[in-house]
Amino acid sequence: MDACLHKINGISHTFHDIFDFDIAITVLSQYVGHPYWRHSKPVCESMYGCTIREDLDYLCNLNGLQVNEIRRSKRAMDDRSFPSLFLPWHHISMERVMGGVVPLVLGGLGLVLLYRLIQRVKQGAVIQDAVVVITGASSGLGRECAQVFHDAGARLVLCGRDEARLQDVVQELKTTTDNSQRQTYTPRTVTFDLSNTSETVAMAAEEILRCYGHVDILINNAGISYRGNILDTHISVQRNVMDTNYFGPIALTQALLPSMVRRHSGHIVVISSVQGKISIPYRSAYAASKHATQAYFDCLRAELEHYNIQVTVVSPGYIKTNLSLNAVTGDGSKYGVEDKTTTAGRDPKDVAQVVLMAVRHRSKDIVLAGLLPTLAVYIRTLWPTLFFKLMATRARKEQKPKDE
Ligand SMILES: NC(=O)c1ccc[n+]([C@@H]2O[C@H](COP(=O)([O-])OP(=O)(O)OC[C@H]3O[C@@H](n4cnc5c(N)ncnc54)[C@H](OP(=O)(O)O)[C@@H]3O)[C@@H](O)[C@H]2O)c1
Repeated sequence: MDACLHKINGISHTFHDIFDFDIAITVLSQYVGHPYWRHSKPVCESMYGCTIREDLDYLCNLNGLQVNEIRRSKRAMDDRSFPSLFLPWHHISMERVMGGVVPLVLGGLGLVLLYRLIQRVKQGAVIQDAVVVITGASSGLGRECAQVFHDAGARLVLCGRDEARLQDVVQELKTTTDNSQRQTYTPRTVTFDLSNTSETVAMAAEEILRCYGHVDILINNAGISYRGNILDTHISVQRNVMDTNYFGPIALTQALLPSMVRRHSGHIVVISSVQGKISIPYRSAYAASKHATQAYFDCLRAELEHYNIQVTVVSPGYIKTNLSLNAVTGDGSKYGVEDKTTTAGRDPKDVAQVVLMAVRHRSKDIVLAGLLPTLAVYIRTLWPTLFFKLMATRARKEQKPKDE
């Protein structure tokens, strides 16, 4: 009996130290039915000053006793024998919930909201005086981005291939500016062809840096689209689209990065497309360039986080711009048609506001599309065979290049 008591005491003390009294009692209850239980029970009861229940319908082998088994055994015990940690949910009284958990959750939520509010206010101030570089600023979304960042007080460097068109944008910004709200700046311009990655882009990056000495925000917006059947598309067209949409933006980004890394500060935005997440027929070059863009900037985001450099990928659906008009076809000629989907697309002004917000909130990845394209992104991931079937049906139906 002494040996049994000794063992019981040892175990109860161990559990007493680790957990609490209730657990020790639970463990001791495993001894119900033991030959020496009759003698050891009163001793244990006097030791812990309570009654140990004997209506348990099981015997547990103490050698193999695990916490899981203790948890299982709790179902047979009354509340009093168990610590609150192991109580099933229905045993937690409403009073307890209202008194403890709810204020804790609400308090936590309040703190998170307050933190985000402070972050927003802090981020909102960053646009004023920030040096913002926008590629493809002569038209469409880039032009609207120029407007919203200019209105927010940014010092702009506008880029494109055509200096005259860029100057038009500068004049427009100057005439529409309301200086009573905040200080604004006359934008600078840098003219270069993004697809010429061998020399031009590096030289353009130097010129950009000469404007204000550094860059706070780079918006990689310039791009071209493509309409074509892969079978009829020359490889030089595939290359040209990749050069403009992928190699150009990454070459410019890499040329400006060292200055951002030195300052431990910067934000790189890239305008991708929903077609950077899913590929639709007759857009091979475009979808490939946008997929590559998404992949590259996802890597960049991870690699730059510890330098305090943000990366935002924006993936819009159709926007009402000249993109389809300017698209190239399989033989390299201009497509020259404004597709119905483009005509019905989002207002570029609204998309530009989203880009501004994305920078303010330091968003990482934004899909800005209708229900169907957004659903398609999920189907591609969760049910690829269905996605492939749908795309094959679409390809058969179209049989020729169409909308963006
Ligand atoms: N519109 C849509 O439905 C849609 C949907 C999803 C994503 N996007 C993306 O949004 C971005 C902006 O396109 P957008 O819709 O505004 O089309 P856009 O009106 O045709 O504007 C394209 C801009 O890119 C510039 N650009 C084109 N090739 C260039 C090159 N080789 N070097 C330098 N700049 C070049 C053009 O400037 P210059 O011609 O003056 O050089 C122009 O300012 C693109 O990346 C596009 O892929 C558009």
